[in-house]
Amino acid sequence: MSETLILSKRWGKPDSASLASYRADGGYGALDKAMGADPAAIVDEVKKSNLRGRGGAGFATGLKWTFLPKDVRPRYLTVNADESEPGTFKDRYIIEHDPHMLIEGIALTCYALDIHLAYVYIRGEFAKQARILEQAIQEARDAGILGPRLLGKKDFPLDIHVHRGAGAYICGEESALLESLEGKKGYPRLKPPFPAVVGLWGKPTIINNVETIANVPWIVANGGAAFAALGVGKSGGTRLFGVSGHVNRPGVYEKPVHYNLKKLIMEDAGGIVGGRKLKAVIPGGSSAPVLAAHEIDISLEFDAVKAAGSMSGSGGVIVFDESVCLVRALARIAKFYAEESCGQCTPCREGTSWMEGILEKIEHGHATAADVEKLEQVAGNIAGNTICALGDAAAMPVQSFLKKFKPEFLRHVEAHRCPMGESGWGLDQSSRDALVGAVRY
Ligand SMILES: Cc1cc2nc3c(=O)[nH]c(=O)nc-3n(C[C@H](O)[C@H](O)[C@H](O)COP(=O)(O)O)c2cc1C
Ligand code: SF4
Repeated sequence: MSETLILSKRWGKPDSASLASYRADGGYGALDKAMGADPAAIVDEVKKSNLRGRGGAGFATGLKWTFLPKDVRPRYLTVNADESEPGTFKDRYIIEHDPHMLIEGIALTCYALDIHLAYVYIRGEFAKQARILEQAIQEARDAGILGPRLLGKKDFPLDIHVHRGAGAYICGEESALLESLEGKKGYPRLKPPFPAVVGLWGKPTIINNVETIANVPWIVANGGAAFAALGVGKSGGTRLFGVSGHVNRPGVYEKPVHYNLKKLIMEDAGGIVGGRKLKAVIPGGSSAPVLAAHEIDISLEFDAVKAAGSMSGSGGVIVFDESVCLVRALARIAKFYAEESCGQCTPCREGTSWMEGILEKIEHGHATAADVEKLEQVAGNIAGNTICALGDAAAMPVQSFLKKFKPEFLRHVEAHRCPMGESGWGLDQSSRDALVGAVRY
């Protein structure tokens, strides 16, 4: 049986980003259908669909929408296209190949929630995607889909602004994103109040990920129950999984939300390069706890990955084969979080740099066993003690790598060098034997 594709079904078609092509494939049909219905019915369908946010936390989208206070206007929709989490690269595909699907999703969401202005906050580096999206928005304005009358039919003014970020990971965090949109430095806000109540310019604001919103046209066209049926339990639909690292066919794969992680890596992504052995997998972007090779025969559904001790987060699956020094890989991840910390909270500002330093020391063979213990302590002191989740995102990889692969860290200490060789990425046979012998699978 062929699998249902919602988000990627038009990718690769010539001119798929144009309005003409989108319309030829039935695009804006869901918006047309919705014009004749009560806006509240859209919210009901999204609730029924069991759509969960695709930006990381997996929060129920329909439920989030109901948090808007009833009588406060104006209110805003902000679409999060910052996509800066290492290992995550799916939202940019939606924008590049099917921007009108996102625009239709925005229009439906705004109609459902009585919102008349939406922002797409897009990562600064996505110059091409920003241009494509702006062109598509202009096409929609010119065709009368956006503007004073929604789809040229309904007196419902709607416009969409594209705001380009400047390449700061923290601006993907929802409250930092709002600060940045307001023209300020991207410092996360203390929550509560949550953005749905006090958001952009102090007004109620719904913030959703690109992939989340891009699902809305299909839900409206086919019904929430049909979307729910594609998934499992309280998670509906399909997801875009970005597979990167040591696989034969890295790329973005659209699969049911509960697809098997091992199958995704070993079959869809073509297995491990060069016939080498799998060593570890990060299933949901760099902040998700790592899984050892024997732990990957699991469903990718949010709660199932959580039960397995990790997170399916933003759907970025990062694959490490046996040639990787995991200390070096973790040191690189830690460097990212240290650089991207906004510096507001002491545990995050100081702790992330501290972890980076200790990891560098371990990798180069200059550390003691006490340093490894210190690393564990520092991570433990960051987690749960910060304004935003970047602190946890920095601590979780460290805690999980240590939990699963501590012997590899200790091998560095004992050998006074990286057992994988100077580069940490190359691998000679004796080093491999020494290392594999030290790692408990
Ligand atoms: C440091 C940090 C970076 C984040 N980056 C992104 C991002 O690039 N894109 C995104 O959609 N969500 C990102 N998030 C999650 C957002 O704060 C927010 O939960 C999400 O956009 C909500 O959309 P959803 O409910 O549709 O998933 C980030 C969170 C943190 C803590
Ligand atoms: S946890 Fe880090 S990134 Fe988040 S507010 Fe605190 S210092 Fe800034």
